[in-house]
Amino acid sequence: MASDTQTEFPAHIAIVMDGNGRWAQQRSRPRTMGHQAGQKALRRVVEHCGRIGVRELTVFAFSSENWNRPEKEVSRLMDLFMRALDREANELHQNGVAIRFIGDLSKFSPELQEKIQAVLARTPQDCRLRLNVAANYGGRWDITNAARALGAEIKAGALDPTDIDEALFESQLATSPGSCPDLLIRTGGETRISNFLLWQAAYSELYFSPVLWPDFGPAEIDAAISAYAARERRFGAIHESAQQKAG
Ligand code: FPP
Repeated sequence: MASDTQTEFPAHIAIVMDGNGRWAQQRSRPRTMGHQAGQKALRRVVEHCGRIGVRELTVFAFSSENWNRPEKEVSRLMDLFMRALDREANELHQNGVAIRFIGDLSKFSPELQEKIQAVLARTPQDCRLRLNVAANYGGRWDITNAARALGAEIKAGALDPTDIDEALFESQLATSPGSCPDLLIRTGGETRISNFLLWQAAYSELYFSPVLWPDFGPAEIDAAISAYAARERRFGAIHESAQQKAG
């Protein structure tokens, strides 16, 4: 599922959108303001990615750990998601962006789940850009879920454990069908993955930016892509010139 060693342009970009809270605090505003500004940044980034030919974009909107935030912040975030779906989904669809949600949606309110289902039902088949919104998502949850699904098949006698290989396992992950990210960006200065796409990011190029998410935009995406283009992806192998020397 990973692309080849060519790193000129990332077909799939994943983003940990971090720094909304600090952005708001720097302006002495409530954290919610930061999330609102974060939503606008997401819109700009989606538009830009569509324009420049990125095929898949996966964004971490709400992690399974984010429920531990103050109740008021969580509830404001949920309101923001609802309003974003109302406001943005149709336009995104019209512009050839297919939205998909990855994560355990069952913990969201029935109203939000209904809205999500309505958006999914309208998602175009043909798309320029696939937008995966990770909501109540965690990489460990994803892997555990896949293991549980395969375990159930084994229990039902439909699968032999020896037939489990990486491709089959991957087909059970929330991102399937889809590709693994070529480039994984984290904004906001922290340098960790925070339980995002643990399996899928095995060979992603990592790019950490100090820019807080609400300030992230086309120029920062272009800078990340330039950095990516300068990398060499070997997927555990060695570079051709080194291979010649070794041979
Ligand atoms: C992390 O910043 C951001 C989030 C937990 C929420 C991300 C949500 C958005 C970008 C809003 C729009 C999303 C959709 C899908 C409509 P933080 O609050 O952890 O920032 P901090 O590290 O500065 O505290």
